[in-house]
Amino acid sequence: MCGSESLNVYYDEDVDLSVLKNEIVAVIGYGNQGRAQALNMRDSGVNVILGNVKDSYYDQAVKDGFKVYSIGEASKQGTIICMLIPDEVQKVVYETEIQQYLSKGKMLVFASGYNIDFGFIVPQKDVDVIDMFPLTFGTQVRERFVKKQSLGGFMAIGQDATGKAKQRALAVAKAIGCTSGGTFETTFAHETEINLYLEQVVYPAISRMMVLSFEVLVEAGYPPELVVLEMYLSKEPSEVFASMAELGFFEAAKGGSTTAQYGEMTRAPRIIKDDIKKTMKVHLREIQTGVFAKEWALEQAAGYPLFNKLRKQGLEHPMNEVEKRVKKVIRP
Ligand code: NAI
Repeated sequence: MCGSESLNVYYDEDVDLSVLKNEIVAVIGYGNQGRAQALNMRDSGVNVILGNVKDSYYDQAVKDGFKVYSIGEASKQGTIICMLIPDEVQKVVYETEIQQYLSKGKMLVFASGYNIDFGFIVPQKDVDVIDMFPLTFGTQVRERFVKKQSLGGFMAIGQDATGKAKQRALAVAKAIGCTSGGTFETTFAHETEINLYLEQVVYPAISRMMVLSFEVLVEAGYPPELVVLEMYLSKEPSEVFASMAELGFFEAAKGGSTTAQYGEMTRAPRIIKDDIKKTMKVHLREIQTGVFAKEWALEQAAGYPLFNKLRKQGLEHPMNEVEKRVKKVIRP
């Protein structure tokens, strides 16, 4: 079940940054990942330029001292092109502004394998294609780099046209800071599908449980303010997850009282029964077979009707008002 013997992990000392000395890295997009990765790579001594549409992100990149070009111009100048715009706009931007400037030996870097794994983008054969997925969100990618804290990543080679894709990919990983904690070699499919599965099954199950628990407790007459306070405004859940990462998933539970541990161990299998795995497998198959990707592409093409409806529903839930009231009285 556990394939740990086959793990390929690369650390700072395994990687030669000088591989990038004659490269121009064009970072396309200056949002969550784009800003963090561009700043980290520049601080690592890499020649970084920016490609962005004219918006507030463009202005921020200029303010941060980068040479900022249109996406097409940056792709023309760059020898390594990092796609750091949202997954759902990548196909159109790639086809209209990037593709024509890809010449033999350039490298395309994704921070999510989504568009390659599901075939929305099919790069020409004479370029290197890699996936460099930092294991956290952008603000943390920057903060941990600045504080010299450990950061990890997944790296996959989709195409090795130059025979040097791996050295280049690892050099990019190191420049971003992802070999400080360890960059794990994987495939586009594994990175993308594990990520989608967690986003679609694990985290929604936790958040849905929290919403339903708010409803159950409030319907039973408990003060809603105290419910949201204890459930998440206290930040206890994030501390529990941090402790799982540090101590181990089951070891961390020992941090709770014995009453809490007994309650959790005896009730968890009664609330979430093992046969839920059947449903979980259905969702995994929808990801693997591209059913989800197709559905999401159709939703985008239709102008996000369901997405907007569901987001509105969430923002109208009574928890929002309760949360605002409590936040006014908690001292930061
Ligand atoms: P973001 O939403 O922060 O991207 C904003 C940037 O995209 C801005 O520069 C904006 O000008 C540009 N942009 C937006 N719409 C555009 C359009 N129609 N045409 C051209 N440019 C447009 O994106 P984020 O979250 O940084 O994601 C970038 C990539 O990183 C994605 O592939 C994502 O899956 C991946 N990723 C993101 C993580 C995160 O922490 N958000 C974590 C790991 C991977």
